[in-house]
Parts: sequence; C-alpha cells; structure tokens
Amino acid sequence: MSDSGTVRVLGIAGSLRQGSFNRSLLRLAQEMAPSGMAIESFAIAPIQPYNEDLRQQGFPKPVEDLRARIKAADGLLFVTPEYNYSIPGVLKNAIDWASRPPEQPFDGKPIGVMGASMGTHGTSRAQYHLRQCFIFLNGLVMTIPEVMIPQAQNKFTADGALNDQATRDFIAAHLAALKAWVLRLK
Ligand SMILES: Cc1cc2nc3c(=O)[nH]c(=O)nc-3n(C[C@H](O)[C@H](O)[C@H](O)COP(=O)(O)O)c2cc1C
Repeated sequence: MSDSGTVRVLGIAGSLRQGSFNRSLLRLAQEMAPSGMAIESFAIAPIQPYNEDLRQQGFPKPVEDLRARIKAADGLLFVTPEYNYSIPGVLKNAIDWASRPPEQPFDGKPIGVMGASMGTHGTSRAQYHLRQCFIFLNGLVMTIPEVMIPQAQNKFTADGALNDQATRDFIAAHLAALKAWVLRLK
C-alpha cells in the first residue's frame, strides 16, 4: 500500500493482440478504478516460453520484472480471454515463470479476475481454470462478483470503448469489491 493509503493493483491481460477486447477491458478498469485504488499494468509479451534449463541460469529480465511487480502490488487483476475453454498459453506461461521458487509471489496475494470473449460463456471456463492454478499457488482469488463478458464483439467499439451500461456496472462492482478484498486481507 502506498504512503497515501492507496491500494495498488497490478493488472495483467491475457492477450497480446493489438485490438484485444481484454486489453481494452484492462484499460477501462484502470480508468474506472474507485478512489483510493490505482491499477497499473504489466505486459507479458516479452516473456519467453518456459524452460527449466533457462530458469536454472536465473530468471530472464522480463520474468524478474514481473515477479518484482507482483511482490510490490497489494493485489492483482487478471483480465483474460478464453482459449479452447481454458487459459491462453501466453498467460499460463507468464504465471508458470513467475510461480517458480524461491518466494513465489502469488502466495497470499488478493486477486481479481475478469474476462471478455466472443463466445456465449464470457470466459467462464478460462476463469475457473485460472482459479484452479491459484489453489496450488495460494493466490486468494475473490469469488464474487464475477465479470464474464460474452459476445465482446457486440459490446466493444472498434476503438475499444465499452458502451454497454450493464457491463460497466458489473466492472465497477468488481473493482469496488476487489479494493475491499485487498483491505480485508491486509
Ligand atoms: C486459440 C483460440 C481459442 C479460442 N477459444 C475460445 C473459447 O474457448 N471460448 C470463447 O468464447 N472464445 C474463444 N476464442 C475466441 C476469443 O473469444 C476471441 O478471439 C477473443 O477476441 C480473444 O480475446 P482478445 O480480443 O482479448 O484477444 C478463441 C480464440 C483463439 C485464438
């Protein structure tokens, strides 16, 4: 927590796509963060595929950076698409790298999860797989309220704006709850 008492959350998007709905959603969450909470973001694109041989030589710089940012954050916010009913490989890869000992940084960390997909289930299956990973890592994923945005192509404009008021209300509720979740677990 910052000296001013601001809750500092690190947002991580699970898509590398330039026009990604989930990257737009993370940007929107940053804009909509309630007072007393600030959301920064971390780009996972530079993280290479996990290789235990490389880890034995030390964490690559982007992984060091990610681990340091996770450790420094009061909480995390994952914003992810669903790939083949599960977590996109790039996001799982980043989590796998960051999770390796010593001092795996997810332990006891408050976590929020949101997602947008083009299908009708709004990333529910990816989100539940993400929760399962954090059982092993003891990441404390908030249970409700969930934000699962289906048919994102009908909700986001081409420049990434979200004009659907009901969805904006879900996002606002999630962010307020995440702030309370972080403070509760402090
Ligand atoms: C490899 C792959 C698998 C996908 N699997 C699913 C899926 O299981 N469920 C779903 O709703 N959409 C699926 N999609 C479509 C995504 O919802 C869509 O590409 C979405 O725009 C990805 O999020 P993004 O805009 O943040 O990149 C898949 C897309 C890709 C590339």
